[in-house]
Amino acid sequence: MNLVIRNIGQLLVVPPGPVSGETMRTVPRIEGASLVARDGRIAWFGPADDAPTIDGETTVLDARGGCVLPGLIDCHTHAVFAGTREREWVWKIEGKSYLEILEAGGGIHTTVAAVRAATLDELVAAARPRLSRMLANGVTTAEIKSGYGLTVDDELKMLRAVRRLSVEQPIELVGTWLAAHAIPAEYRGRPGDYVDAITQDGVLETIRRERLAEFADVFCERGAFDLPQAERYLAACARFGLRAKVHADQLTRMGASALAARLGAVSADHLECIDDAGIDALKSAGTVPVLLPGCSLFLNSRPADARRLIRAGLPVAVATDVNPGSCLIESLPLVMSLACTLLRMTPVEAAVACTANAAAAIDRADRLGAMAEGFAADLIVLDVPCIERMCYEVGRPCVRVIVKAGQVVHERVD
Ligand code: NIG
Ligand code: FE
Repeated sequence: MNLVIRNIGQLLVVPPGPVSGETMRTVPRIEGASLVARDGRIAWFGPADDAPTIDGETTVLDARGGCVLPGLIDCHTHAVFAGTREREWVWKIEGKSYLEILEAGGGIHTTVAAVRAATLDELVAAARPRLSRMLANGVTTAEIKSGYGLTVDDELKMLRAVRRLSVEQPIELVGTWLAAHAIPAEYRGRPGDYVDAITQDGVLETIRRERLAEFADVFCERGAFDLPQAERYLAACARFGLRAKVHADQLTRMGASALAARLGAVSADHLECIDDAGIDALKSAGTVPVLLPGCSLFLNSRPADARRLIRAGLPVAVATDVNPGSCLIESLPLVMSLACTLLRMTPVEAAVACTANAAAAIDRADRLGAMAEGFAADLIVLDVPCIERMCYEVGRPCVRVIVKAGQVVHERVD
C-alpha cells in the first residue's frame, strides 16, 4: 500500500535524532515538495518535479500548500489519571506552593485517591478522549507514566490501562513505571519499605512478562524520593530491562541530573534548576534533557534555561507533561509555542525537540521522529505554510491531517 502526499508547501527535513546543540536550528526545508510512503515507511521525498511514478494501490493526499513534518512525539506524559484538581490550582493562585500542597497530603495524593477508586475500564474511558484530542493535535507517539496508584496493584492497573489504549487507538504508546512518584500515606516515614515493595522481583517480572513498560522513572524531590532511594529503585528496575528516566532538578537542586547521567538514563526531565555540573554530566552520558515549559505556565514558575543546554551542545527535547497537578495542557503544539516564548527556542528547534529528540528520549530515534527514508511514515500536514506560523498562532489548532505508519488516521473537518 502506498501513500503519496502532493502539493506540500514546505517539507521540514528533520534528521534522525538526537540532534544536538546549534544544529537543531539548521534543518533543511524543501519548498514545493512531494512525499511517497510505502508499507508504512517513508520511501521518497523531494521537489515535486522529481517525484517518481508509483505502481500499485495508492492513496493520494493533497497537502494544499501546507507544511509537512514528522508526527509529534509527546515523550513525557501522565495522560492516564482520574479526577481533577482545580481546587488546588486555585490554592496555588492564592499563594500556596506546589510542595506545600503535596506535603499537606494533597497534590499527587489527591489524584492517587481518585485512581485507586477507579477501575481499569474507568481509567481507559477517562484517557480515551484525551488521547484522541492529542492525536488531533498531531501526536503520533506518546509516553505515558504510571505513578498515581502507589500500590503495586494500582500501579499495574495504570500500566494495563496504557496497554489497552495502545491497541485501541492510533497513537503509539510507551509505558513507564513511575511507582516512585510519591511516598504513599501508608508508608509515611518508611520510604525504604515502599521502595522495597515496588521493586520486588515478582512485580518487575510481571511488568516484563506483560510488556507493560520500557522505562522506570522516579520523582527526585524534597518530600518525594532522595538520591539513594532513587538509585536503589532505578538499579532494581534496570535488572528487569527498564531503562532509567528521572524527574530531575524541577523545584529543588539535589544533583538528580548527575545521578541520571551516572545511571545511563535515557532522559532527565524538567531541569528548571540544573547547574553546570549536571549539564556536563548529561552531555557525557548521552542522556536527553526533556523540558516541560507547560509546567512553567501552569504553575507560574521559573522555566528551564533551554539556551544554556543548547549552547552546551545537548539534544533538547520538549514535552507536555500533561497531568492534573502541574500542567493540564494536552496540546503539544501549544507547548511548542511556549518553548518559543518562555524558553527562547526557535520554532524549528521546537519542532526538532518534539520529533527527533523526543524520539531519542524514548529510545526510538532509529525509526521515529525524522524525515528520512526507511523511517516510519508518521507525518502531519499543517494548514499553514511553515512551522514558524504554527508556533506563532499560539493555541490555534493548525494540524489538518495526521498520518501514522502510512495511514491517514485523522483528518480535520473544515
Ligand atoms: O511531572 N513532578 C512530578 N510529577 C508531575 C506532577 C504530578 C502531579 O502533581 O500530579 C510532574 O510535574
Ligand atoms: Fe512529569
